[in-house]
Amino acid sequence: MPIVIDEEACMACESCVELCPEVFAMNDDGDMAIVLNPDSTADCVDEAIEACPGEAISR
Ligand code: F3S
Repeated sequence: MPIVIDEEACMACESCVELCPEVFAMNDDGDMAIVLNPDSTADCVDEAIEACPGEAISR
């Protein structure tokens, strides 16, 4: 499954970007995360899923 971010659930806390910058970034407005590499198998994706306060990330 590709990594996806629920736009409604993302609160722009940026934890995912801090934990896993090769996969996540903030959008140009800084109000939502975007997925740079939806097919990544990096372990840090799981860390970001755990850390996300909005439970916005799934894979
Ligand atoms: Fe949004 Fe969760 Fe990342 S709130 S910015 S998807 S850690």
